[in-house]
Amino acid sequence: MMQTGLTAKGEKRETYAEILSQLRSLLGGECDIVATLANAASLLKLAFEERFSWVGFYLARGNELVLGPFQGKPACVRIAFGKGVCGTAAASKKTLIVPDVEKFPGHIVCDPNSRSEIVVPMLRDSVVLGVLDVDSAQANAFDETDAEFLEAAVEIIVRQIQNPSI
Ligand code: SME
Repeated sequence: MMQTGLTAKGEKRETYAEILSQLRSLLGGECDIVATLANAASLLKLAFEERFSWVGFYLARGNELVLGPFQGKPACVRIAFGKGVCGTAAASKKTLIVPDVEKFPGHIVCDPNSRSEIVVPMLRDSVVLGVLDVDSAQANAFDETDAEFLEAAVEIIVRQIQNPSI
């Protein structure tokens, strides 16, 4: 698998295309949410090991997001809707790219080395099931290509999981 921290844009798209294909076969017919999210987090983290410092899921539980399967350092467990980057993306139901976390009001620091972040909401019929959160120790690490492919990954994942409750 390619290590793509500094690859050209084209190579990044190719890597993502390969990852999406691996994601489809890795998830297979499995509909268990823990198994699905755990393998998805692992696959994404390993694909972009140098650029992604943390990859994981927060799941909607009432008015808050609760930490789900992830790869990286231990992270904060509960985030209220509307708070932090994750809660803001969940409340707005839109992908959020934060090029510099220090400039995002209310950013929740889990890893002090994190410099930039992207959060993609997991939506089913406009209901927020959770979010995919990816952090980087590099500033400005995420662009529209990341948004496009991480949204596609989330779509595959959401289609796969039958029951969002654990
Ligand atoms: N920085 C996030 C919190 C989650 S961690 O990055 C894993 C936020 O502001 O929502």
